[in-house]
Amino acid sequence: MSTIGPESVELSQDDLKSLVAAELERTRRRSAALTDAVDDDDLVEQHSPLMSPLVWDLAHVGSQEELWLVRDVGGRPALRPDIDDLYDAFQHSRCDRPELPLLGPRESREYIATVRDKAQDVLHHVSLEGRRLVDQAFAFGMIVQHEQQHDETMLATHQLRRGDPVLHAPDPPPTARAPSSHEEVLVPAGTFTMGTSTEPWALDNERPAHPVHVADFFIDAHPVTNADFFRFIDSGGYREPRWWTEEGWRHREHARLSAPLFWRRDGDTWLRRRFGRIEPVPPEEPVLHVSFHEAQAYANWAGKRLPTEPEWEKAARFDPATGRSMRYPWGDDEPGPERANLGQRHLRPAAVGAYAAGQAPSGARQLIGDVWEWTASDFAPYPGFEAFPYPEYSQVFFGTAQKVLRGGSFGTDPAACRATFRNWDFPIRRQIFAGFRCARTPSREELD
Ligand SMILES: [Fe+2]
Repeated sequence: MSTIGPESVELSQDDLKSLVAAELERTRRRSAALTDAVDDDDLVEQHSPLMSPLVWDLAHVGSQEELWLVRDVGGRPALRPDIDDLYDAFQHSRCDRPELPLLGPRESREYIATVRDKAQDVLHHVSLEGRRLVDQAFAFGMIVQHEQQHDETMLATHQLRRGDPVLHAPDPPPTARAPSSHEEVLVPAGTFTMGTSTEPWALDNERPAHPVHVADFFIDAHPVTNADFFRFIDSGGYREPRWWTEEGWRHREHARLSAPLFWRRDGDTWLRRRFGRIEPVPPEEPVLHVSFHEAQAYANWAGKRLPTEPEWEKAARFDPATGRSMRYPWGDDEPGPERANLGQRHLRPAAVGAYAAGQAPSGARQLIGDVWEWTASDFAPYPGFEAFPYPEYSQVFFGTAQKVLRGGSFGTDPAACRATFRNWDFPIRRQIFAGFRCARTPSREELD
C-alpha cells in the first residue's frame, strides 16, 4: 500500500498513474469483500434506518466515479444518466433509499465494473497537469477517498446488522504496558500551522494551511478507555444532569441512553456485540460507539473537557524541535502496521498504550487510527477556504449542527486519513466508530 504524498510531485506521470491505478484497485477489493461477505437478500435489506442498504453504497460509489472521472475528467458520454438521481445522496435520505428502484446486486456489480474500466481508460489517456481537478491526480484521489469512506460506512452497517459473524480479522497485537488512565501531556502555548496547502489529495475543508495560536493545554496521552467509562457509568454518569449540557441531557432522556451503543449488562459484567460476536467489553480498549453528548458528559464528570480542533491537531502533528507541522504524528512517512490501527486490518481498536512507533512529539499516542475522536469544535471553514470541486463536498455542512471528529478509526483507510483530515457528524450519532480523549486548561500553578 502506498498513499500519495507531497513527495509524489516528483513522480513521472506514468509512475503517478500506476500508483493511482493500484489505489483504485486496492480500494475496490475492499468494497467487494464487504459486499461479497453477505448474500443478495442481505445486500438489499436496510439493517438500520441510519444506513443505506449496502447495495446502494455499492452503486453510489460507481455513480460518483462515473460523474467525476468518466464524464468530467474524461469528457466521455454518460453511461447511466437515468440513475444519477437515485444515487445522489442529496436527493434521498438514507431511510428512504430502500424504497427507490435501485439497481439489484448483480446490476450494481456490473455497473461499477463498467465504470471502473472506463475510469482506468481515462486515467491512461488523460494528462495529469494543466487543470486543477486533475493536477496531481486530485479527482482520482477524491474518488479513492470517497469509496474508502463508503467502505467505512458499509463496515458500520455490518456492525449494525443482526446475524452470524461474516467478517473476520486477527486481533491487534497485544500491548506491552498498559498506561495509567490519567496520563496526560502538556502542549505549551504557541503558534502552529493548521491545515495544509501541499498535501495533493487533501480535501477542500483541510485547506489552506494557516497559523493558529493555541494556549497551553493538557491532552490525554491516549483515548478514554472502556474501564474509564465503566467508572463514569457506575458513578451515575448517565443519571446526573449536571454532567450534561442541556441539549445533551434532552437527548439522553429522549433516546434513553444508559451505556455506549451495542453494550448490554449481564450481571456484573458489560457485554458488547461486535460484528455479530457477543463478548465482554475489554477494559483496556478505547471506548467506542459513544455520541458527542456522551463524550462531553464524561469529560465534565472527569473535570476535563473535549479538545478543540486546533488543540487536537497541534498535539497530533506539531514538532517543536523543527517548528513544523507534519503529515502524521510520527512524521511524513506513510502509516504502516507498526504505527497505527487503520484500514480494517483488525475489527476492533487496539488496547491503549499500543503503537509506540506512532507517538507524536507531544507524547500522545493513538491519535491516528483505532477510534475517531470527537472534538469540541463545530465544523467550520478555515480562513481562506474555497469550495472545491463543488460546494456539496464540505461547504453545505458548515455550521453549528455538526461536530468535528479527528484521527480515523480501525475502519478508516490510510488513503482517507492524515493528521489534517476532518470528519464531521451530528452530536447524537453513535453508529460511527467514534470515541474521544479529554483535554484541560492547566492551572497557573501547573505552569510555574
Ligand atoms: Fe458519497
